Amino acid sequence: MDTETLSPDATGFARAASVLQGGGLVSFPTETVYGLGADARQDKAVARIFEAKNRPTFNPLIVHVADVAATKRYVHWNDMANRLAAAFWPGPLTLVLPLRDDSGLSPLVTASLPTLAIRVPEHPVAQALLSEFDGPVAAPSANPSGKISPTRAQHVINGLSGRIEAVVDGGDCGVGVESTILGLFDEPTLLRPGGLPQEAIEAALGRPVVIRSEADPLTAPGQMLSHYAPGASVRLNVVEIAEGERLLGFGKVDGATLNLSAAGDLTEAAANLFHHLHALDADGDTPIAVSPIPEHGLGRAINDRLRRAAAPRDT
Ligand code: TXA
Ligand code: MG
Repeated sequence: MDTETLSPDATGFARAASVLQGGGLVSFPTETVYGLGADARQDKAVARIFEAKNRPTFNPLIVHVADVAATKRYVHWNDMANRLAAAFWPGPLTLVLPLRDDSGLSPLVTASLPTLAIRVPEHPVAQALLSEFDGPVAAPSANPSGKISPTRAQHVINGLSGRIEAVVDGGDCGVGVESTILGLFDEPTLLRPGGLPQEAIEAALGRPVVIRSEADPLTAPGQMLSHYAPGASVRLNVVEIAEGERLLGFGKVDGATLNLSAAGDLTEAAANLFHHLHALDADGDTPIAVSPIPEHGLGRAINDRLRRAAAPRDT
């Protein structure tokens, strides 16, 4: 299969929508990372996502829709959801809500869970494609399973060329880490830190969120510890690099091969994170050392991804 690169214009969106309608796979940019999209109502199309990514099927997918009204066809709504949608959608927040019986979605999307992860992305290319397609698009990050998430079209092509029908090239993703996932159960529960800081969610809800630990088997299913892993080994919180290590720096540090943000800016660091990991990965297997990153705001999501990159490899 030849993977088409589509431009982010009317012709490209029309082509992308028709590929989705035909059960094909289209990668597209969101403000967080590039997604690998399929029509969430077509089992075969959804199955092809797992195939293309080589992803374990027990890992459920996020459904993307163009606006808040469209989410109500698929999930049961509640007060917390109203408040969060008003404050943060479109944007880098995924809500997990009870799945409607009449959703019409493929059970592969939810891995047969009674809940659905859904979001309204903000990126204009994602918005245009979702409006043109006018249906639910299941989309994990567009990388082979266990590899680093893509933040530009070239990353998608490097990882999935020949395995998917098309990629819409919309340039670099602004946020650079995946969406924050919040389960709206009895208590709002943070399932994955991400592009929207926990503090912003707590301010909007007027209450703290519960944090699910990695060790809890009920954590976002499929949050395997080794994920986002470059080929080289990764050592975290490094103040002094060892002989032969490459330093991925943060803040004012000497001798960094690359720096996430010399200014110590967490937003800039998040946007650079996967670009820099890709660049280091492409440049060989010399061990990577990473400067300490503060554990607040977007730093939580960055550290979460870095811990996965550093974890013992399980696949
Ligand atoms: O920013 C993002 O969220 C990107 C872009 C493309 O939207 N998507 C993304 O998808 O990161 P993915 O598939 O790489 O991660 C989805 C996560 C997985 O960890 C999965 O376990 C969790 O969402 N998830 C999906 N459905 C769930 C559910 N019903 N309950 C709990 N966790 C769920
Ligand atoms: Mg992913």
